Amino acid sequence: MGAQESSERIPQHIAIIMDGNGRWAKKRGMPRTYGHKKGAETVRHVVEECANFGIKYLTLFGFSTENWSRPVEEVSELMSLIRYYIKSNAAELHKNGIRLRVIGERHRLEDDVIKIIESVEELTAQNTRLTLTIAFSYGARQELLHAVQKIAHMVELGEIEPKNISIDDISNNLMTANIPDPDLLIRTSGELRISNFLLWQIAYAELIFVDTLWPDFGRTEIDYAIAEFNRRERRFGGVSTTDQNK
Ligand code: IPE
Ligand code: IPE
Ligand code: MG
Repeated sequence: MGAQESSERIPQHIAIIMDGNGRWAKKRGMPRTYGHKKGAETVRHVVEECANFGIKYLTLFGFSTENWSRPVEEVSELMSLIRYYIKSNAAELHKNGIRLRVIGERHRLEDDVIKIIESVEELTAQNTRLTLTIAFSYGARQELLHAVQKIAHMVELGEIEPKNISIDDISNNLMTANIPDPDLLIRTSGELRISNFLLWQIAYAELIFVDTLWPDFGRTEIDYAIAEFNRRERRFGGVSTTDQNK
């Protein structure tokens, strides 16, 4: 039974490291870029499924700071795909009440891609059904570095004292400001690492690793992840409610 029909808790925020496009294509004797195209279609379906489940925030890792080191042809194909994905889905995202945000080192993207991102972020800014955040040219260490630089600048201007810098000050200076931390982090393709994604924000996320390659990811895996989330007991450093008086 799917989570929709049961009394399962639905996570508020799911983050996904979408991995395995290259291997998916290779298994079919196709170039890696074919896997990326298929992966972009998967994004469309997954966004729809998550919105239908009532998930409020979905954050997808699409391209890391480190992915810039891939062959130029592959990087250029990934740029074309983000351009195409956002352009061709803008109207539908908006119609479905989805707000789009893109996080990452935006200045490294091509000018026209930046313009498309800005226009769709503006178009969908008031939507509240689901916030879709795409991490593109994103690295968590780079994000933290920028936050440190911004806060250091505030100190320099005398706006804040070093001893008064709070956890919230750090969160609020990240690119994910105003987005609650992920409840669930899923990585596809069987790799068991974080690869510089949302290091600060996943402090208490439940981690789920599935062997499915991203182009094959769908409803079955979402159902599994939500069911698994419900099996986990989140204690946030405390003790279980049943153990409190023992
Ligand atoms: C994930 O698939 C997409 C990106 C990182 C851009 P990969 O391209 O990493 O595919 P594998 O891991 O090589 O199979
Ligand atoms: C992480 O996948 C980045 C994205 C999914 C966008 P990679 O395939 O780049 O990560 P590594 O190289 O396996 O750590
Ligand atoms: Mg990979």
